[in-house]
Amino acid sequence: MKRRILVTGGTGYIGSHTVVELQAVGYDVVIIDNLSNSNEEVLDGIEKISGKRPAFVKADCTDMTALRKLFVDYPNIDGIINFAASKAVGESVAKPLLYYRNNLVTLMNLLELMPEFKVKGFVFSSSCTVYGEPDQNPVNENAPIKKAMSPYGNTKQISEEIITDFINSGAPIKSILLRYFNPVGSHPTSEIGELPNGVPQNLIPYLTQTAIGIRKELSVFGDDYNTPDGSCIRDFINVVDLAKAHVKALERMLDDKSDKQLEIFNLGTGVGLSVLQLINAFESATGVKVPHKIVGRRAGDIEKVWADPTRANTVLGWKATTSIEDTMRSAWNWQKKLRERGIM
Ligand code: NAD
Ligand code: WQD
Repeated sequence: MKRRILVTGGTGYIGSHTVVELQAVGYDVVIIDNLSNSNEEVLDGIEKISGKRPAFVKADCTDMTALRKLFVDYPNIDGIINFAASKAVGESVAKPLLYYRNNLVTLMNLLELMPEFKVKGFVFSSSCTVYGEPDQNPVNENAPIKKAMSPYGNTKQISEEIITDFINSGAPIKSILLRYFNPVGSHPTSEIGELPNGVPQNLIPYLTQTAIGIRKELSVFGDDYNTPDGSCIRDFINVVDLAKAHVKALERMLDDKSDKQLEIFNLGTGVGLSVLQLINAFESATGVKVPHKIVGRRAGDIEKVWADPTRANTVLGWKATTSIEDTMRSAWNWQKKLRERGIM
């Protein structure tokens, strides 16, 4: 029998790319999403790529009754990938309770139902934000967790602790915490991609919207950091590469490749690129100029952070392989597709 996986937040950016990879290797996927930051048309995009439409339940993971019904309607779920969360850093400062409630209640509801419905594996979307400004780069999984700089970041730290405590209490589950660095780009078919709401806060959507003329110019937040060109450094990880790591993580738990009940992996390329280098990479990969100007630093920004992905490379058997040029082209093609479809 095919393994059945519940993907929460599966119509979102990373979730949709992961559903495609799960279906490609034969998993039966059920998505739950409340469409608070995505729309049902994403299912069409997934179907175009996979030739298969995943089961979809429109419901909120904070609603225990709806969740329980899902586990009854779709029995024998083997694993869960929990993408469902609110993720805008700035909004989390303005609306902390919304973030704590949405992200933590979702997590606790899912964990609570796992033993009852005999679900074995749980993959959690964590973030390099837990490392704050690391003492050294590249950063590995043993680096200290720094005080969170936003309620959003704090929900990731608390979520990691909740999962750890639950497993330490003897819960009959396995979990893998995946700490993503900066996911960027889109599926090479341009059938799915990132759908930012309103004015983008993140670099790539702002950059592609500037390149297509929706925004006048991109502001580069600071050129006086202690980095070679003065702009901040990040580890930009292709979203399809990232999605594939989730398949590896599930296999590891469901096939009992490890005795450990809880493991943590960094998901990054291992290469740090500055904001200015990224703009250059976009321009040379696409031939499209991005009007930009240097402005002051953005409050709360980390100066430099990039991953040591050795553990994911050797233990999970996963490696990021897509070049930054291909990733930039995919982001640009997606932006053009949104224009063609009259969305932006
Ligand atoms: P996204 O907003 O595109 O996807 C999240 C999806 O979850 C959306 O479709 C939204 O409608 C849904 N959702 C939110 N709350 C829900 C709820 N209570 N019930 C049901 N559905 C709900 O975000 P994304 O970029 O795909 O991120 C996925 C996960 O990865 C999140 O947990 C995020 O915190 C984490 N993460 C993202 C990044 C990043 O830069 N994108 C980096 C690190 C970690
Ligand atoms: C990247 C770099 C900006 C926009 C955030 C969250 C983090 C994680 C990913 C989930 C920074 C610069 C940006 C712009 C710019 N999410 N920038 N002009 O800040 O690394 O991480 O998203 O867990 O938690 O904090 O990503 O894309 O916002 O910024 O110069 O218009 O681009 O200063 O150096 P960040 P980002």
